[in-house]
Amino acid sequence: MQEEINTLAKPDSWNRRYLIDLESLTADEITTLLDTADQFRELTNECRMKLPVLQGKTVANLFFENSTRTRTSFSLAARRLGADTVDFTASGSSLSKGESFIDTAKNIEAMNVDAVVVRHRAPGTPHVLTKTLDTAVVNAGDGPHEHPTQGLLDILTIRQKLGRIDGLTVALVGDIAHSRTARSNIWGLKKLGAHVIVCGPATLVTDRWEEIGVEVAHNLDEILPRCDVLNLLRIQFERQNTRPFPSVREYALLYAMTPDRLARSKDNIVIMAPGPINRGVEVTTEVADGSHSVILDQVTNGLAVRMAALWLVTQ
Ligand code: NCD
Repeated sequence: MQEEINTLAKPDSWNRRYLIDLESLTADEITTLLDTADQFRELTNECRMKLPVLQGKTVANLFFENSTRTRTSFSLAARRLGADTVDFTASGSSLSKGESFIDTAKNIEAMNVDAVVVRHRAPGTPHVLTKTLDTAVVNAGDGPHEHPTQGLLDILTIRQKLGRIDGLTVALVGDIAHSRTARSNIWGLKKLGAHVIVCGPATLVTDRWEEIGVEVAHNLDEILPRCDVLNLLRIQFERQNTRPFPSVREYALLYAMTPDRLARSKDNIVIMAPGPINRGVEVTTEVADGSHSVILDQVTNGLAVRMAALWLVTQ
């Protein structure tokens, strides 16, 4: 075990105590995160074994919004590295007694926490914490803004399956307007040299993405034969104020990944989804559980990416 621990040295290319977004990271920093995640996956036998490099440290998970995968994944990642964890959810906390978010965070920090993982529905919340707390901070999703570890685990999965990112065509399909996963994927993939297409109804996919070199499409069938990867994003009904399309059935007819669409795709197309998936809306059961789907590999890679992120920001 000591031998494995000794193989880990903080890379020169990483000097941050925060992981807030992929927009502000360089290609080198993103590659460092991916390589470190690969290293952790290997050293922990596909994330099954413990590697106590964070022994004696404490990670607090502050989740002010619903989460299944991300919260469990951060918690497990911290414990696999030997850290103590405190899991905090907004319901049942003193927030309901009128305490402010900042006061809650400061009180948790006063318990000698080394890193705070935060999910909040307000964009910018993790950034605010970097200004008010002395601990390391990792963004686990701030409203529709960014979800950097999700972007990284998606990119890591693509790199694992196709061996590279540079030169690939990756389409993000669905509710781009409200998706933090979309934003983190766009920045990360573009920096590593992929061609990114955003595809969905015009009410959810604005032409403004073209300003940063992203291709905008509204017809999935037209772009399908060119795509190496499809990342199927959930319609974020909870973030919408108006109905973006007439019916879910119509959306599914135009954008759901079906066996028929799979037959018109590249032979080695990779089908991804960040989860939770709505079967029959963005993807059919046959495709979600089929041989092109890497949806569960993404979840395993999520552990590796979160180990890498927690380790890097606390060095
Ligand atoms: C995503 C999220 O919460 O932003 N899910 C996740 O983190 N696993 C995507 C979504 O909710 O659709």
